[in-house]
Amino acid sequence: MKNFISINDFSREEIFEKIIPGCKSMVAKAKTKKPLGWHPSKKVIFAFFEPSTRTLGSYLEASRLLGWRNMQINGAEATSLTKKESMANTVRMFAAQGADVLVMRTKIEGAQRFAAEILEADDWNTSVQNGGDGTNQHPTQTFLDLLTISEKLGRLDNFKIGFFGDLKYGRTVHSLLCALAHQKNISLKLASAPETVLQDRYKKIFKNVEEGDSLDILADCDVIYGSRLQEERFTADPVSLQRARDRFKISHKQLEMFKKDVIIMHPMPYVEEFDPQIRKDSRLIIDLQAWHGIPTRMFMLEEGYKNRKKKTLNNEKQKSEFEIITKMKLDKYMEERKSKKTVHKYFMPINNGTVIDHIPRGLGIKIREFLINKKLVGDIGVKHIIEDVPSKKQRLKNVLVLEDIFIPKETIAAISSFAPTITFNIIKNNIFQKIKIKNPSMISGIGRCPNENCITNHDGEASSKFTHHNDNLYCYYCEKEFEQREII
Ligand code: NCD
Repeated sequence: MKNFISINDFSREEIFEKIIPGCKSMVAKAKTKKPLGWHPSKKVIFAFFEPSTRTLGSYLEASRLLGWRNMQINGAEATSLTKKESMANTVRMFAAQGADVLVMRTKIEGAQRFAAEILEADDWNTSVQNGGDGTNQHPTQTFLDLLTISEKLGRLDNFKIGFFGDLKYGRTVHSLLCALAHQKNISLKLASAPETVLQDRYKKIFKNVEEGDSLDILADCDVIYGSRLQEERFTADPVSLQRARDRFKISHKQLEMFKKDVIIMHPMPYVEEFDPQIRKDSRLIIDLQAWHGIPTRMFMLEEGYKNRKKKTLNNEKQKSEFEIITKMKLDKYMEERKSKKTVHKYFMPINNGTVIDHIPRGLGIKIREFLINKKLVGDIGVKHIIEDVPSKKQRLKNVLVLEDIFIPKETIAAISSFAPTITFNIIKNNIFQKIKIKNPSMISGIGRCPNENCITNHDGEASSKFTHHNDNLYCYYCEKEFEQREII
């Protein structure tokens, strides 16, 4: 594994059978506190554009124990980013300064994925590791959390886990959930204020989810995991902020209500989540958890270094497969068409050209614009945009009729990426052909990610990319899901 950017990049086997055992194998070595060697030619650059105590500190200790060189940048204000240098050029510079591994912590979401892409495209051999990107992901924290659960609980499946505090903005919660979603018999309990509830997209991946707005619902949990109110990302008013804080504080009294052998975790920093009186309670295992950052990141550094030369991103354009649904003589098709009452009521047939069919309602006009921008049609080239045609597959659809116009294959693939339902009727030389793209690629260079914190809204070189996810679109960089109409 070369890059550690998002838990979503890894399979169950990779996380639970390779990474966690790998982190475990470093525990004894980390305990000795003795450097394993001296490797001044290996270099890690830490670019931390948000504050950090544990992630940066444990990575630094990991690199000392491995005998590597390191370079450390603390705060975006210490770099030329404040002079409006782009993220792309900033990371290119780190690679040029010898980073075998580049660990980044950013407020901007998806910056690490973008960095990995830029460096691979420029042929740098650098592993990119995400020390936290905004509210999105913090994968290396998840690995140390899992290492801790495995050590204390003796298993990584079949338990009840309760999360409390800021479940909306807490990236460590999101990453951990993505990993636990692979495991059997995990029940979730979620305790949070209305302002900080977990987004549906994370809840959806679990079968057993119980929600409440008090810590009481965590009474039968095997693991309890807290998250600080992420004030720096919080948008609600200060009164609700304070209310949320007061409600989610674990005191002695509260502790009595939990299981006797519960383990209580927190990525730290904690602010008011624990009463100082319970700091020494053996159920609170946050010090062990934080210490596990060292062996975990020793493994991350070694693994990233080993694989730094691998090409992991598929830069080649995905080959689109065309599926021919129907091919017949045009007159035969016209005969058949007559028998379909609904269709010919709405638009006139053409003898030469392309009909783009099964376009989701509202997208017809966007595809028309796209074709005009590509100079494939002039303003008058589109004979009809038919709104609200009843269809069996979609309740209402749009149809574009392009008389005497044929679209190149790449453009057909690009149009299909707008929506996988789209089909193309091509009428040429008295032959009618209906085709469809089997594997519509990512939507790229079309639309804008609505997340203001997404790297695509912060770097001119980062153009938006989306994949289809059920009926929605999923941003390749910030990993957030949106409805199609929010994007195009
Ligand atoms: C967390 C983070 O930065 O996401 N801390 C950490 O890395 N251990 C949690 C937080 O800031 O609340």
